[in-house]
Amino acid sequence: MQPIELSQQEIEQSVLQYGTPLYLYNLDVVERRYNALTRSLPSNCRVYYALKANSNLTICHRLAQLGAAAEVSSLGEFMAALKSGFSAESIVFTGPGKTRHELMTAIAKGVGLIVVESVNEAQRVNEIAVQHGICQDVLLRINPRFRSLNSCEVRACSVDESALKPIQMNGQGSSKFGVDEEEAKEAIAILSTLKHLRLKGIHIFTESNVLDYAQLLDAWSNTIEIANQFRQAGHPISILDFGGGVGVPYNSVDQAFDLISFGRELTALFERSPYSYTCILEIGRYLVCEAGCYIASVVDVKQSKGQKFVLINGGVHHIYRTPAMQNASKYLQVLGKDADAQQSVVLAGQLPTPIDVIVKDVQLPETVEIDDTVVIYNCGAYGFNHSLTNFALHPYPAEAAYVQGQLVLVRSRGTIEDFFIHQHLISV
Ligand SMILES: Cc1ncc(COP(=O)(O)O)c(C=O)c1O
Repeated sequence: MQPIELSQQEIEQSVLQYGTPLYLYNLDVVERRYNALTRSLPSNCRVYYALKANSNLTICHRLAQLGAAAEVSSLGEFMAALKSGFSAESIVFTGPGKTRHELMTAIAKGVGLIVVESVNEAQRVNEIAVQHGICQDVLLRINPRFRSLNSCEVRACSVDESALKPIQMNGQGSSKFGVDEEEAKEAIAILSTLKHLRLKGIHIFTESNVLDYAQLLDAWSNTIEIANQFRQAGHPISILDFGGGVGVPYNSVDQAFDLISFGRELTALFERSPYSYTCILEIGRYLVCEAGCYIASVVDVKQSKGQKFVLINGGVHHIYRTPAMQNASKYLQVLGKDADAQQSVVLAGQLPTPIDVIVKDVQLPETVEIDDTVVIYNCGAYGFNHSLTNFALHPYPAEAAYVQGQLVLVRSRGTIEDFFIHQHLISV
């Protein structure tokens, strides 16, 4: 079950040194993924690291050093990107519902591109650009009429029936993201009257964690077609932002995303397009997911109505996965007990709420006991940054990393005092 990216010895060493709960990363893996991705892509594509996957400053810094640009979706992520070495011009600011304060700060600091998600937002960006006496480059986010099937799901294992079926583009419903494709023409007409905006292109992102490269290619081909229609209508669109979506396997049987074929066929798509584009790929999961694991200790083992529960000194305040992603947490190991007979258990955390179940129905060794170490693999993306951190005031886990073979602490374990910072206790 154990992937090769973090060896058992490295994991044991990190637990000895820093204890649990702990996120452990290997930055060399991040570098390998970045290099593999950039090598396979056509030359008109640039990788923007999506900080929402993991905004740990050391990880961001490594990606900035490697030459990535950055995609941020809040002022917090924008500041994290600047702090870790991305230049403001190399940042694209995405996300619905950006506040005036967020936009003003990003524009004042010279953000490269803002993805506007509504006409209102475009007007707000224009007003702020007027105040700064600049012309701001923007992309318009579009909610496309169609999207491909089977996005976001992590299967429990093995048989990939979806791979046998042809990929279909399905009707896409209403969305808080962007403007509907049907309304995009009108939105572009309004944007072109805003003198302090320069509409450089469009942003379309619907897929997530796609393992079949042909599925992602279909979605991106749809984006190119939409852009081509705008070009035909005379809009000078030169940038396409495809968002992310390159998946990683969360078990030992699924095939990895075929980057080589994807890159080759994407190049062919551009060769067939009557227009040329500069492209942005906002990649999070592929770059950092397999570089990290979450490590916790067993604190209780109990039975309820015939069901075995294993409780760890962590929970959804450290690692929260949506129902579609719950199977991802089955990619785990109890250290030193690989050879033991397995049984189905519920793996849960220590929060006083029934939602704190990390994964239902997972196979764990029958011999699992208090103080065993549980390692959940592929937690480098949407792990630390995707958790319900404030629930029940359990401190943040520490984060450690292997950087060129050396184990270092990249974030100290939180303390209970962290939860009281910025609070004002008013006596009545
Ligand atoms: C706008 C946007 N860009 C990029 C990403 C990163 O996608 P991924 O982690 O699949 O690469 C996301 C993820 O939700 C997103 O919402």
